[in-house]
Amino acid sequence: MLDFLFKISNQKIKELLKKANDFYNQKDFARAAGIYRKILKADPLYFAALANLAVSYFELKDYKAARPLFEKLCREDANNPWWHNYLSQVCQQTGHLPEALEEAWQAVVLSDGQKEHQLNLAYTIYETADMGGRSAVDSVLRQWRRKYPRNAIVRQSYKSFYPDAEFTCSEAEYVEELFDVFAPDFDAVLADLHYRSPQDIASLLAAFFSKNILQKKQILDLGCGSGLCAQEIAAKLPNGCFTGIDISGGMLREAQKKNIYNRLIKCNIFDCDKILKQRFDIVVAADVLTYFGELKKFFAVVRKMLPQGGVFAFTVSENMVNQKDFFLMPSSRFVHRAEYVEKSLLELGFSILENKHEVLREEGGKKVFGRIFLAVVK
Ligand SMILES: C[S@@+](CC[C@H](N)C(=O)[O-])C[C@H]1O[C@@H](n2cnc3c(N)ncnc32)[C@H](O)[C@@H]1O
Repeated sequence: MLDFLFKISNQKIKELLKKANDFYNQKDFARAAGIYRKILKADPLYFAALANLAVSYFELKDYKAARPLFEKLCREDANNPWWHNYLSQVCQQTGHLPEALEEAWQAVVLSDGQKEHQLNLAYTIYETADMGGRSAVDSVLRQWRRKYPRNAIVRQSYKSFYPDAEFTCSEAEYVEELFDVFAPDFDAVLADLHYRSPQDIASLLAAFFSKNILQKKQILDLGCGSGLCAQEIAAKLPNGCFTGIDISGGMLREAQKKNIYNRLIKCNIFDCDKILKQRFDIVVAADVLTYFGELKKFFAVVRKMLPQGGVFAFTVSENMVNQKDFFLMPSSRFVHRAEYVEKSLLELGFSILENKHEVLREEGGKKVFGRIFLAVVK
């Protein structure tokens, strides 16, 4: 009898959808969700409203409300990998890890191994193993490697569960894919993780250069990412001339938007001494060495970019799990022993001015401990 109250003309539904989509595009998900619900009351099968309401709940972190909608989308639009990807993330967030793993796998298969879905599966495997140990992910890891033996994301994940002494550096292809996907959300995610290394590095440099803070300085930002580090340094050393190097085009596009760099170059750090013909007063590498295990080759490149007296500031995540010089964690990131970092720096002709133990950021609600180094070419 109340049905007529919900009857809305097609024209009215179109107008409501447009209004809701405007809010959705402005990321005002709460208001968008209110209108999508109204549309679905009038027409429960209105696909665009259903899909955007599900994503709005997801963005609002209302995973309980999002789950049945994504389940419905997986049934009605069964070949779209994104619904399975979202559903896997919702299951992860609500602690339903076996379902999360199954849905993440479905998304990978349906997309024929697209990088966004491979990375989601990699993350789901990591989260599942964190709770249930390696045995909880063993069979999916093996199945994954059998199906995609040449995929760099799969290889990196596999090596992080089955240690291989020969694997001493992340593959460039893995890093590029990871950060191209991550780039648009990088700054927001890192802020959520209380990432502090850019501020810490900038403070160390400001203290070191306190007597000539206004002097013009050439600064090379290795693995510059979206430019968070240069942003902090520029605030403390106002006459910096910044060159940023990164392997990810997506991250470089984010860095460009900050308008800090004089030059941004897409290349592998290992090649920058061949590309850059100048030397720098300062080289920084914030949260970058975690993609490198063995450090001597990295430090040798840095050494070539600096004259005598040149300054190198960087962070490493600390190996607190065993006595190895470096170790690839299940998170697919390398951690390093402080003594190994010191020894490698000294062997390459640096003297160490600072080696500070700090909390670098958080990961899965836990603190990530590390070191901030300041070294000078002797
Ligand atoms: C965690 S982000 C840190 C970004 C930035 N330094 C910051 O503090 O916000 C690591 C960056 O290092 C870059 N990177 C890692 N390995 C690289 C390599 N071999 N060559 C160039 N860039 C690399 C990644 O693409 C990514 O942008």
